[in-house]
Amino acid sequence: MHPNDRRSMTVDLETPALLLDLDAMERNLQSMSAFFHNRAAKLRPHFKAHQSVALASRQIQAGAIGITCARLSHAEALVRQGIRSILIASEIAGVSMIERFVELSRRGPVIVAVDNEKVVCDMATLARDQASALNVVVDVNLGLNRCGVPPGKAALTLAKVVLEKGLRFRGLMGYRGNLQLPAGPEKQRLVSMAMQILVDTKALIEHEGIPIEIVSSGGTTDYSIVGAFPGITEVQAGGYLVMDSWKTRFASDFTPALTVLATVISKGAAGTIVVDAGIKAMSGSKGLPSVKDFPGLEVKKMYAEHSLIEVLEPAASLDVGDKIEMWVTYVDATISRYRQMYGVRGGVVESVVAIEE
Ligand SMILES: Cc1ncc(COP(=O)(O)O)c(C=O)c1O
Repeated sequence: MHPNDRRSMTVDLETPALLLDLDAMERNLQSMSAFFHNRAAKLRPHFKAHQSVALASRQIQAGAIGITCARLSHAEALVRQGIRSILIASEIAGVSMIERFVELSRRGPVIVAVDNEKVVCDMATLARDQASALNVVVDVNLGLNRCGVPPGKAALTLAKVVLEKGLRFRGLMGYRGNLQLPAGPEKQRLVSMAMQILVDTKALIEHEGIPIEIVSSGGTTDYSIVGAFPGITEVQAGGYLVMDSWKTRFASDFTPALTVLATVISKGAAGTIVVDAGIKAMSGSKGLPSVKDFPGLEVKKMYAEHSLIEVLEPAASLDVGDKIEMWVTYVDATISRYRQMYGVRGGVVESVVAIEE
């Protein structure tokens, strides 16, 4: 788009619309890239935060070794669009998902997390003579108590099943996502304890003569501890790039870059305005959004299609038809509601970034 094209100004966009501040995103990109430069551990950023192949490509250009994702469909989209080094950091199960994974593995060495013997056996059966083309990491429960086998012997046992069934065992992953804490000694201690468990499990398996190539963990809020921990080979941080306002409390080195543009559609009861973006336009599950550039406006309530905003300072009063931007508080659950975001610099729409379903 040409910068002088009137239609390319953000104020002219129909709402609700998702806006990506390109300057902030690029600062985040550089800052993470600088951390991993010349480091033993590498970055394999999680896709779920932006679901954009274009942004994934920029992360790879900036030094990432590949992409982590949660959904098989996202791995398929990435492979289709030329990104081949992928870790699906979520378990898959069921015949049709495993068949799709077998098919995908024909096109590239996509790695998937496993935490269940039955799934490993099903993979071997469904892959038939292609089992050695299936790459897996054993997922270790580091205390989040979501997926993963217990550390230590249980992980070793599953690694042996993987090998017996003829699949390609690549290593371990473990995600300890419930340690969302502000920076400080307590966070350092708890995250390090979790990493030690993962690295001890690696040592146990290697002691049995089974080589381990990958030890993957970490996210935006603990990347600097995980990425510096001896024995960790890759970090799954993803949210840092577009960043939401909730995560900044635990990762202050990144700037939120994502807002939802909304239009004032009504001047409600005295001292309030109503905009056309509610829960369907952005997740409120990590708190109500704040309004960018207008400290005198406070979001009071989100409805399905509306948000009610209190005008705390009359100077912040807006008229029907005016537009505001609301900071995205939870990017993962907001991004999937859009098929595109507008890349914006200085109020001008510079690009339209496609979002995978
Ligand atoms: C498996 C896994 N890895 C990594 C992450 C880190 O994501 P982020 O960097 O956005 O915090 C998550 C987030 O939920 C996750 O589920």
